[in-house]
Amino acid sequence: MSQFLLEAQNISHGFDTLLFHDVNFSLKPSQSAAIIGRSGCGKSTLLHIFSTFIKPDKGSVTLLGKDLYTLDDKAIEALRRYDIGIIFQFHYLFKGMTAMENVEVASMLSAESIDDAILEKLEIKELMKQKIGELSGGQQQRVSIARVLSKKPRIIFADEPTGNLDKETAELVMDVLLHYIKETGAGLLLVTHDDSMEARCDVTYKIEDKILKELKEKI
Ligand SMILES: Nc1ncnc2c1ncn2[C@@H]1O[C@H](COP(=O)(O)OP(=O)(O)OP(=O)(O)O)[C@@H](O)[C@H]1O
Ligand SMILES: [Mg+2]
Repeated sequence: MSQFLLEAQNISHGFDTLLFHDVNFSLKPSQSAAIIGRSGCGKSTLLHIFSTFIKPDKGSVTLLGKDLYTLDDKAIEALRRYDIGIIFQFHYLFKGMTAMENVEVASMLSAESIDDAILEKLEIKELMKQKIGELSGGQQQRVSIARVLSKKPRIIFADEPTGNLDKETAELVMDVLLHYIKETGAGLLLVTHDDSMEARCDVTYKIEDKILKELKEKI
């Protein structure tokens, strides 16, 4: 098997007009990568291409050794359920359930157990009996992150995971995500507008002039 969790080659995609072309990208175990760029440049679109949700106009994506977009629905479903963790720009939780029930659903589906330490670290352990509707936006955001981690994904795609959060809470979420990937060998691909989140990743890419560029290596 390849040394990469994710390898994308020569990706081009657009809707009405071309968004980006000839994108090459790879992610190794325990590696974190940030994607930055102006609003509308195609960051979320690229994340969706890498994570099974949009078939690109051109190019190939190999995720966890599987050539996406040649797989049948069942194989895609299994990847999504067991292997990929997705933190969307707008988080999706079941509103009528408690926070704990939301986390349990995810871990049940993947047959993994919930890690109490993660709830504690995210400072949501005390809130878990409350209904989602009774939580603040930032608290809901953290429940959705706990939900994703509870299924022990091998790769995490996060689209502005700290968008709703104050700086201190954002740092805490970043601590949890980075700790998780170092401990498990999972990978993290993060879209962000936040400089301090980006700076904590191993590598940063920018979409500019329809090209994905790697910014200079960090020390
Ligand atoms: N399903 C779609 N159909 C048509 N156009 C789309 C679709 N999804 C995205 N677009 C367009 O593609 C462009 C890039 O969208 P995308 O969401 O990838 O941007 P982004 O870089 O994530 O922006 P932001 O920082 O604001 O989240 C936008 O102009 C958007 O309107
Ligand atoms: Mg976006």
